[in-house]
Amino acid sequence: MEITGLIEDVRVKVKEWRSKGLSVGFVPTMGFLHEGHESLIVKAAAENDKVVVSDFVNPIQFGVNEDLASYPRDIEADKRLCEAAGADLIFHPIPETMYAPDFSTFVEAQHVSAELCGKSRPTHFRGVCTVVCKLFHIVMPDRAYFGQKDAQQLAVIRRMVRDLDMDIEIVGCPIIREADGLAKSSRNTYLNEEERQAALVLSKAVFYGEEMIKNGIVEADTVLTEMRRMIEAEPLAKIDYVEMVNADSIEKIEKAEGNVLIAVAVWIGTTRLIDNFIIEV
Ligand code: PAF
Repeated sequence: MEITGLIEDVRVKVKEWRSKGLSVGFVPTMGFLHEGHESLIVKAAAENDKVVVSDFVNPIQFGVNEDLASYPRDIEADKRLCEAAGADLIFHPIPETMYAPDFSTFVEAQHVSAELCGKSRPTHFRGVCTVVCKLFHIVMPDRAYFGQKDAQQLAVIRRMVRDLDMDIEIVGCPIIREADGLAKSSRNTYLNEEERQAALVLSKAVFYGEEMIKNGIVEADTVLTEMRRMIEAEPLAKIDYVEMVNADSIEKIEKAEGNVLIAVAVWIGTTRLIDNFIIEV
């Protein structure tokens, strides 16, 4: 496995693979990799001849008061995980490589970015789309792998790829959870012991909502009220949102019908965590 910070190195390597007729899978990450990322790399390695992983904390997807400076980083551990999972190349640029001082071109998937995380993080998806678009142009993969934990991000990327005619297959992969249900996230490392316990309220609410829908309760109001009640019972939890939307358009729906996404974002102390489930009704 190789690692480089240079765009040109990635291009040369991918061209070499392509000239031999090899397929390329791509896993974009912000590093501090865990089993969730590992599952994406393993899947990419199973479905492609070569796998590129990007490891880049993208400054333009963080708001001014967000955790860019404190976002966890550990490139040595990332290298070990990537190699064991079957990656061939890590792209680990510095911000200056990705953004010229006068960088001024952005990609925005408008409507699909408006609800859920887009409300409290208004510039977040513009930053995600812009960096993913740049990374796609650098790597030129056949397939790119994203976790369903960031369900809105997945919908936003699919929309960008569709709208801009990018010839890349977007592969959504299931949420990977801790044994007690907490969705794996690099941000879980911010939680102290008491908060880690309190954070279980997200997965509990998500599982409860899923069970209600499976039992035929389809009114958003009923499902969401019960889920909110459950989260509000946890003293350390503060709800950002608990919503039911169409999983493709991210538009609010009043009744569970079609491809349904129930998504939650909850502050546990100073850490904002997300979780969700998708169900075809
Ligand atoms: O999901 C992430 O880690 C990031 O949003 C992504 C897709 C790597 C873009 O920076």
